[in-house]
Amino acid sequence: MKPVKVGLLGLGTVGGGTAVVLKRNADEIARRAGRGIEIDAIATLELEQAAALGVENIRLTKDAFEVVNDPDIDIVVELIGGYSPAKELVLTAIENGKHVVTANKALIALHGEEIFAKAQEKGVVVAFEAAVAGGIPIIKSLREGLAANQVEWLAGIINGTGNFILTEMREKGRDFADVLSEAQALGYAEADPTFDVEGIDAAHKLSILSSIAFGIPLQFDKTYTEGISKITQEDVAYADELGYRIKHLGVARRTDAGVEQRVHPTLIPKDRLIANVNGVMNAVLVKGDAVGATLYYGAGAGDEATASAVIADIIDVTRTLTTDPENRVPHLAFQPNELADTPVVDMDQVETAYYLRMSAKNEAGVLAEVTRILGDKNISIKAFIQKEPKQGESEVDIILLTHRVNEGDMNSAIEQIEKLDVIAGDVMRIRVEALS
Ligand code: HSE
Repeated sequence: MKPVKVGLLGLGTVGGGTAVVLKRNADEIARRAGRGIEIDAIATLELEQAAALGVENIRLTKDAFEVVNDPDIDIVVELIGGYSPAKELVLTAIENGKHVVTANKALIALHGEEIFAKAQEKGVVVAFEAAVAGGIPIIKSLREGLAANQVEWLAGIINGTGNFILTEMREKGRDFADVLSEAQALGYAEADPTFDVEGIDAAHKLSILSSIAFGIPLQFDKTYTEGISKITQEDVAYADELGYRIKHLGVARRTDAGVEQRVHPTLIPKDRLIANVNGVMNAVLVKGDAVGATLYYGAGAGDEATASAVIADIIDVTRTLTTDPENRVPHLAFQPNELADTPVVDMDQVETAYYLRMSAKNEAGVLAEVTRILGDKNISIKAFIQKEPKQGESEVDIILLTHRVNEGDMNSAIEQIEKLDVIAGDVMRIRVEALS
């Protein structure tokens, strides 16, 4: 059988890794796919990069539209990232009857519905395993491996850059900005690294996971999103003292009121496996009603790790080239006409425990004022730390861990505490999840 012809868009970290691994493992990949898979054309603005990767003999162009309009190409692999021109390229490829593989979480999270509808109409596949959690086959696991289950909740460390930063801060006491620069140099970070540190990248990925887990439309805009840029060395140390690690977590949970979809720094008990996922590694914990809790772990970013997911998709698409479109696995796991209208719940309705850190005047009655406000809202305190004031300082850190409470009540309690004369500055709040 003739080899399948791939058109590669982008030769950055993931594109380079894909070209290298496809070449290195070509024989074994052909044995798995049932036919050879060849890169026939590469669109890249950095032509010298092709020579460095040993792919200079492949047809190269600076015009990605040339590739998506090329009748010889069977599968377009979009590894440019971002919204535009990635969206136009993907839609043009689909219009031309080509299958698409993409690692572009921003594109799928925001425009997935339109792209999948178009793909459905044209009878082609859009595969996006590499869009979530790098090399971990989490899309395949959720969409196929766990298809018997009603998913109750999932929680994941799904941004490698953020996890790398938090790990280096905790283990080596390194400075936030310094670690972020290293993550950029290693090719982990997004083109705009605020997507990593402010949780936007994780929210893109969580909205994809949530849609596949619960059979609901993609709803990035309804995902509560909070980054890690306000986490201090003190918070990392206090969390440790209380028996927790701080992780940047994406949580999607089915509740009576709807689906919670939230990304925020989270204290997790140190003895949980997921609390020990460090560096650029990602992990996703999925709780199904039949299977119980399952954990998926692996590299969340990086060239060959992400290429592993891209190439698995290319092989999958190659195997299904002759399959009737009606018999393929649906893009979002559930049949397109079977998506539920379960709402994403407002963050005020979410219930979690909290870590609170505040700077208080070192004088009588301060604690009484704080605990009165919490008590009035029925917020119960689980643990408490107060340090002696440092030499020459009149303020002390007070750290509280609460039992589970409604977010709306906690917001109004924090507002009242911040108004107290004896409290300086803002209250730092980090949510706590037991994940048990
Ligand atoms: N910037 C992303 C991360 C790349 O750090 O996880 C992988 O999606």
